[in-house]
Amino acid sequence: MSGQGERTFVMIKPDGVQRGVVGSIISRFEDKGYKMVGCKMMDTPTQHCEKHYEEHKERPFFNKLVTYVCSGPVVAMVWEGTESIKGSRNLIGATNPTAATPGTIRGDFAMEMGRNLIHGSDSTESAAKEISHWFEDDELSKWTHHSKEWLF
Ligand code: TYD
Ligand code: MG
Repeated sequence: MSGQGERTFVMIKPDGVQRGVVGSIISRFEDKGYKMVGCKMMDTPTQHCEKHYEEHKERPFFNKLVTYVCSGPVVAMVWEGTESIKGSRNLIGATNPTAATPGTIRGDFAMEMGRNLIHGSDSTESAAKEISHWFEDDELSKWTHHSKEWLF
């Protein structure tokens, strides 16, 4: 761990790109105070996506989920900050957008479980695993704010 706080993996799914809400979603994380340390757009190879979601591979929605996430480019990111794993999940909102509280990303921007816009790591273990699955070490920046300790 470098910098302040912990790191989490966040991915804007293809519907976020298609609908042009990438900037709005990134703003939620910046507004919270988290620091972006990695960001890239990519077309996700099917096997890469299957590995990312391997915990769900026996679930009935698995194939549909993989097809959806591989249907267009995603924006893969790493965000850093105090308790950023839990905090990001709070910003993202409930898995089912119908149940997601207004004010959360899914609550404000999404309507359906199968188009719920965004992924966020759910534990320290999954964050570590997902960050190394999506990013090489040299793709993560070591930048810090200059001489402003009151900024996160
Ligand atoms: P999950 O890890 O449970 O949700 P989250 O993204 O909030 O961590 O599930 C992964 C994704 O699988 C979820 O974002 C949407 C999809 N999904 C379905 O399509 N149907 C379902 O019943 C569930 C639980 C998830
Ligand atoms: Mg999950």
